[in-house]
Amino acid sequence: MPDHRPVRAPGLALKKERGEKIAMIAAYDATMARLFDDAGMDVLLVGDSLGMTILGYDTTVPVTLADMLHHTKAVSRGARRALVVADMPFLSFRVTGARAVRAAGRLLQEGGAAAVKVEGGGPVPATVTRLVEAGIPVMGHLGLTPQSVHQLGGYHRQAGGADAAARLIEDAHALERAGAFALVLECIPTELARRVTAELLIPTIGIGAGPHCDGQVLVSYDMLGLFENPPPFAKQYAGLRQEISRAAAAYIDDVKCGRFPQ
Ligand code: KIV
Repeated sequence: MPDHRPVRAPGLALKKERGEKIAMIAAYDATMARLFDDAGMDVLLVGDSLGMTILGYDTTVPVTLADMLHHTKAVSRGARRALVVADMPFLSFRVTGARAVRAAGRLLQEGGAAAVKVEGGGPVPATVTRLVEAGIPVMGHLGLTPQSVHQLGGYHRQAGGADAAARLIEDAHALERAGAFALVLECIPTELARRVTAELLIPTIGIGAGPHCDGQVLVSYDMLGLFENPPPFAKQYAGLRQEISRAAAAYIDDVKCGRFPQ
């Protein structure tokens, strides 16, 4: 029996308590949001991965708050039941707490999101506290944090060594204490993700972090086989690149040969 009740941020912790896995996907427009929502997706993340999948940048760094607002509005219009979470783009939240509250507030008030996601540990939990105090639900994101690609030196697996793993565990607890309602763990060792998941009360949502997280997230363009260079851990559930190329070639052929319209 499908569950038609709307998914809310606090509801994710209840899913963890019940041992019910959370399905999340990065979506960018109203049509896809509606399809994923109707299929029963719990969380629609308006990921700043849209910089690469939609806008054609090499990284997520150039994505602006205006870009995020534009796509968050579209996804919110398409969503009916799923929780819509909007990524806070590079430098919209690490500069000052006041700036972070203003940016996140716009993603909720104008964009229609019900929560925001912020990347990183270290000083970020202090900002999470500010956002939560302002009434904004926040999802954290640790491990491979793509906005820091230039500091990290590429898109590599993170927290492989003991020191980095200890730092990540500390950051995860700090984000939970700061009031984050869930935590994305990207590209970290399976055993570390298992440990963080066991230690936290809030749910963890993994991407390239193994099977022990409380939920999983994939970028829709990777999972649908649309993106040219998907990461190795991204399971493909469809091959839409080939399907679209085939359809486009058939249409061109029909037009050129006068078969369409009849
Ligand atoms: O931007 C994004 O799509 C993300 C997911 C990969 C978690 O942050």
